[in-house]
Amino acid sequence: MCTRGFAGVVRAAVPAMLAIGCGPAGSAESLVGETLFKQHCAACHQADGTGVPGLAPPLANALAGQLASPRAGEYLAHVLVAGLVGPVVSAGQNFNSAMPAVAQLSDDEIVAIANFVARALNGATEDRVTRANVIAARERRGGPADSLRLRRALLSGQP
Ligand code: HEC
Repeated sequence: MCTRGFAGVVRAAVPAMLAIGCGPAGSAESLVGETLFKQHCAACHQADGTGVPGLAPPLANALAGQLASPRAGEYLAHVLVAGLVGPVVSAGQNFNSAMPAVAQLSDDEIVAIANFVARALNGATEDRVTRANVIAARERRGGPADSLRLRRALLSGQP
C-alpha cells in the first residue's frame, strides 16, 4: 500500500522532472532557479522577492529599468559574481548595505537563479542571462563597487 501521500509523490516527482526537463521550455531550469533562490537569496530578499525595507531591496517587479537595458544580463551576472554595495534607490526606497557575492556557485546555477529573477519575479518572457555573461563577469574581476557603477550606467541609459 502506498502510504507516502501527496507530498511524498510530489517530492519523488521533482528529480524525475529535472532529469527529463519536462514542461514548457525552461521550466526545469526555473525550478532549479527557484530552489537556489530560496537557499541563497531569500534570507535577505524574501522567498517572494519583496525584500525588506532598509535591509534588502525588492527584486519582484522592481527590475523593469534594469531589464529594459540590453546590458541586463551583464549586470545581473555581475551582481551575483561580485556582489553589490549601495547606496541604491529601489522602488523609491533607499538601501545602503552590502550584498555578498555568490561566486562559489557554478556558472549554470548563477544563470538559473538570475533567469528565475528575470522571468518568474519580473515577467521577462525569455532568458536574459547567459553562461557567457557569467564567464565575462568572472573574468572582469571587478568588485561590488563595479556592480554599482554598472547599475548607474544601466539605469541612466549609458552604453
Ligand atoms: C545578505 C543579504 C543579501 C543576500 C543573501 C542577497 N542579497 Fe541581493 N542585495 C542585497 C542588498 C543589501 C542589495 C542592495 C545593495 C546595497 O544596499 O548594498 C541587493 C541587491 C540585489 C540586486 C540589485 C537590485 C537592483 O535594484 O538593481 C539583485 C539583482 C540581487 N540583489 C539579487 C540577489 C540574488 C539573486 C541573491 C541570491 C543569490 C541575493 N541577491 C542575495 C542583499 C542580499
